[in-house]
Amino acid sequence: MKLAHGVTMLPTFMPVATQAAIKGLTPEQVESLGVSLILNNTYHLNLRPGLKVLSEAGGAHKFQGWDHNLLTDSGGFQLVSLSKFSTITEEGALFESPFTGEPTMLTPEESISIQHTIGADIIMQLDDVVSSLTVGPRVGEAMERTVRWLDRCIAHHERSGKKDTQSLFAIVQGGLDHELRDRCLDEMIKRKDGIAGFAIGGLSGGEEKDVFWRIINQCAEKLPEDRPRYSMGIGFAEDLLVCVALGIDMADCVFPTRTARFGVALTHRGPLNLRLSKHAKEFIPIDETCPCPTCKDGTSRAMLHHIVTHETAAAHALTLHNITFEAQVMGRARSAIMNGTFPDYLRSFFAEYFGDVG
Ligand code: GUN
Ligand code: ZN
Repeated sequence: MKLAHGVTMLPTFMPVATQAAIKGLTPEQVESLGVSLILNNTYHLNLRPGLKVLSEAGGAHKFQGWDHNLLTDSGGFQLVSLSKFSTITEEGALFESPFTGEPTMLTPEESISIQHTIGADIIMQLDDVVSSLTVGPRVGEAMERTVRWLDRCIAHHERSGKKDTQSLFAIVQGGLDHELRDRCLDEMIKRKDGIAGFAIGGLSGGEEKDVFWRIINQCAEKLPEDRPRYSMGIGFAEDLLVCVALGIDMADCVFPTRTARFGVALTHRGPLNLRLSKHAKEFIPIDETCPCPTCKDGTSRAMLHHIVTHETAAAHALTLHNITFEAQVMGRARSAIMNGTFPDYLRSFFAEYFGDVG
């Protein structure tokens, strides 16, 4: 995928830097892990540091010292995550400022304008997001509104003259209802000329895996082959690989970086909780074959266990490792697809991950 700040090979996992920083890491460190596309959040950057600072800095790339590709989420998801402080209208999403309590309206046009100022290589439409566990007429209403908001985002983006440097993605909604997803897909695909890529939203909110996979499959089968497909909020290694198998190219999630801060290392044999005392005398790295700085330095599980509850160094070490792990899972998928060995890779990954290593 060729974007304004270079090429990103697909499929790829995007680490999340909500506040313009991947917690605990410098941009150089992120780059050294082989990551070329990260995610920032419009809602958060608009509140802090705010557009004046970002625009004076010359955009979010310069502000955070990141010279590679950047994607901004539109703020739509905060309708769910901050639902106590938000109200939805046709005009846009009304949020109560967490700092001043003042109501501020985020319209589709404004979300796009903010993302223009931030300068991300991929910008997301504002969508009306409901939890995947919501049922009833609200799910259809949110999907229909998301399509209407997409039209406003496309129109605003076309007027801006930024189309050559910033790529607008649509977000397919419709909850867990196949009929609603189908209608959304039809409507959005009609607008394909104004859309650089398609995301699948409204998932990963506690629904059954079987239901989640069927929605991903339905969307991936229908979406145009010449546009990247992005499943939003997906981060477990097993889910990433199932999504890739179904035709997904991109995914993001706070999971690998957040779980690192809780003391959990992701490995090809499943997650390791380094807080558990069983690691106290394990004088081996998390994974001897891992190319991350933590494992290469020989930092032992025992040492990580020793510092994990009280030293931020442990969170840094585990964040470096977990981002490397996710990059490796997707990198191996990429190589396997290119070599024609993807089914073998899937089988061996799942056998090792779930303990059936024969
Ligand atoms: N992040 C995870 N899911 C979603 C979604 O449905 N919409 C947006 N905008 N962001 C998300
Ligand atoms: Zn490692």
